[in-house]
Amino acid sequence: MSCRAPATVTIVVRAGAGVIVETSAQMAEYKVGYFVGSLATKSINRLLSKALVRVAPPELQLTEIPFKDLPLYSYDYDETYPPVATAFKDAIAGVDAVLFVTPEYNRSIPGGLKNAIDWASRPYGKNAFTRKPSAVIGTSPGKIGTAVAQQHLRSILAFCNSPQMNSVEAYIQFDDGLISEDGQVSNQSTREFLQNYMAEFHGFIARVYTVLPRTT
Ligand code: FNR
Repeated sequence: MSCRAPATVTIVVRAGAGVIVETSAQMAEYKVGYFVGSLATKSINRLLSKALVRVAPPELQLTEIPFKDLPLYSYDYDETYPPVATAFKDAIAGVDAVLFVTPEYNRSIPGGLKNAIDWASRPYGKNAFTRKPSAVIGTSPGKIGTAVAQQHLRSILAFCNSPQMNSVEAYIQFDDGLISEDGQVSNQSTREFLQNYMAEFHGFIARVYTVLPRTT
């Protein structure tokens, strides 16, 4: 697992009368695995994930990490993980960062997503989220737009030792027609907000790996 070779951009700063400072910044490319917290065929969070893929900066390569085929976790499996769970953990190991796009169910995250996180976090000492940058986002028809679920998820990810993007927060209220089947966002300000959210996530991932370079 590693990010692809960075492209270098030159930034020119006019620092005063006639003074020009040239510096260069690395716009590294990263693999991001995303989880769609809903298993529903008509999931509005799946639509949101499609929109996020569309507006993400080109340096982020997004792929879904599916979890619907995982059995219910028990530590009885820790001795020998079933192939589906090993493949799931390998998928997380293969990305630089993770993005959670989740609904709110009963003021928390859906059980299927929690089950997936439990699988990823075990066996003890082999937690797949350790030092893996993450971000959370979600949509619901209600006005608070998954805020309570996201707080629960943040608490879980903190325990799993995942550095989390704290800001921008994103609580998206879903109205009919906001996002099409192929991920087009009809409302311009929402589209720009999501675009900025993904740009911020890119910057956050870069900062995490600047401070904490990977050893693998
Ligand atoms: C919900 N819904 C919901 N909405 C919310 O804002 N807060 C909540 O706590 C809940 N709880 C809840 C529980 C269960 C079991 C279901 C099925 C639904 C409504 C929910 O936001 C709505 O169904 C969304 O469409 C769910 O997102 P997906 O699954 O379509 O992506």
